[in-house]
Amino acid sequence: MIHINMRKHIYLFMLFIVMFSCEVNAQPYTINKQVKGKKHMVVTAHPLASEAGLIILKKGGNAIDAMVAVHFVLAVVYQRAGNIGGGGYLIYRRNHYNIQALDFRETAPELASRNMYIQQNGHINDSVSKDGHLASGIPGSVAGVYDAHKANGTLPWKTLLQSAISYAENGFLLTEKEAEELNNNRLDFKRLNNHQTVFYQDIPWKAGDKIVQKDLAKTLRIIQKYGKDGFYKGAIADLIVKEMKSGGGIITHKDLSQYKPIWHQPIEFTYRDSFTVYTMPPSSAGGMILNEMMNMSETINLHSLGFHTTASIHWLAETEKRAYADRAVYCGDADYYHVPIYGLTAKKYAKHRISTFNPTKTIPSKQMKEGTLQYTSEETTHYSIVDSYGQAVSVTTTLNGNYGSRVIVKGAGFVLNNEMDDFSVKPGTPNMFGLIGAEANAIQPGKRMLSSMTPLIVQKNDSLFLIAGTPGGATITTSMYQLLINMIDFNMSLQQAIYSPRFHHQWLPDILYHEADCFDTATKKELEQFGYTLKQRSAFGRIDAIYIAPDASIEGIGDNRGDDSASGE
Ligand code: DON
Repeated sequence: MIHINMRKHIYLFMLFIVMFSCEVNAQPYTINKQVKGKKHMVVTAHPLASEAGLIILKKGGNAIDAMVAVHFVLAVVYQRAGNIGGGGYLIYRRNHYNIQALDFRETAPELASRNMYIQQNGHINDSVSKDGHLASGIPGSVAGVYDAHKANGTLPWKTLLQSAISYAENGFLLTEKEAEELNNNRLDFKRLNNHQTVFYQDIPWKAGDKIVQKDLAKTLRIIQKYGKDGFYKGAIADLIVKEMKSGGGIITHKDLSQYKPIWHQPIEFTYRDSFTVYTMPPSSAGGMILNEMMNMSETINLHSLGFHTTASIHWLAETEKRAYADRAVYCGDADYYHVPIYGLTAKKYAKHRISTFNPTKTIPSKQMKEGTLQYTSEETTHYSIVDSYGQAVSVTTTLNGNYGSRVIVKGAGFVLNNEMDDFSVKPGTPNMFGLIGAEANAIQPGKRMLSSMTPLIVQKNDSLFLIAGTPGGATITTSMYQLLINMIDFNMSLQQAIYSPRFHHQWLPDILYHEADCFDTATKKELEQFGYTLKQRSAFGRIDAIYIAPDASIEGIGDNRGDDSASGE
């Protein structure tokens, strides 16, 4: 009898443990890290967004239609970076000879001024450029997605917002990572908002909790009905301006109504003859800096150095340092400052820039200035889409930091960005990502703040080869650099290339950052002997990418560093 009772107790105890651990660790969705297909594919930071995009593709929509669905679903279910209150960049492949770039980066408000974050004592008030109402630029996302659809979409705008509206209206379940991020920011949601927001509750969030966002659903319905005017004019614009007034912000109706995305020719460059990379021109530095680093790497046989050997790490780190020193001095919004795009991306310049490379020693960053141009003439998210018509979309979008300014527009239910911190708020002083800037990236009304975002599309001999991008602040461009090098020079599969640990050097601070298990002990020792200071950091970004094989089969890979998930067939 005692024996049976004991067994019963043990059983109940075990059941309790199982139930408890299920509740704590419950992942409410299936996350597909690798999906193979033949028709179309969507890879995003959240399984619900990937599925929403796939549904549109299955209905016969093209990659731009799927982009609209994905972008708005991310704004609902991935609130820390998916957004309507932020901005981003699109690389769009209509066909192999028509590839375009759309800049829907935020702009500085008309009342912004060069020294707005500098106090009387000359020090920066850096909490103001990162937190709260003064940290926001004019959001570009709604106009960007709308203009992309107007020019290239095929399904009606209204249908494309339906999934997002229903997740906002009826709620969705939090993943473990989302619950954790909301908890990490809960005190800021309280401190920076003078109204009750759905992001804050008295008890911590846990995986499987449902979040309903009625105000956001209302906002999305207005955008569904009136398009971009529904956001930049009328009731939503009134709520944004009211929110600004209540918290000392400066965005006006005029700022909102004047916001315009800009279509550009992408930065286009070849690598080792058969690959052509299409990526973002300014206002992002990403494309130019990636181009400069790839140009330097093209001058040697990287493959022969071996993957993650001291020699290849040293080479890549030295190219990164040189390119980031150039970024700090030369890069800003090209509509406001003369950015020497041609000079920075010239193959001859790269050869000259890397000519000081010493194979057994790193040059201290203090001694490494920007090059002389002689040849003139932590939260973001990325999604990649390919459709069955051969069209492709590569979008990186952001609020800047996790949940941006942490200000939620009262009555409208969405988060505003803290992108103003991407300007060089005081020349020579590092921003949130430790990046230094200069005159080129000083604050000016209407100007776009410099970005590292590097969405890209790669063709191999004119056929679609890769669609990729990542979040990660300053590490975005070096993550894209190492992804391409891993695939092209070290012959890795897309999954290997993404999953391999990454490292990063941004010139200043003079530190070679790396992920866990990136270097073995002997390599670390050798790098230190070369003069590097090494520092381990948490994961760098989350690459969501699609590879198209020579037989036209498609592979979608979600980075193992997050909840990123692929959907396709
Ligand atoms: O535009 C940029 O470079 C930054 N605002 C990106 C921020 C970011 O990636 C944060 N995510 N991890």
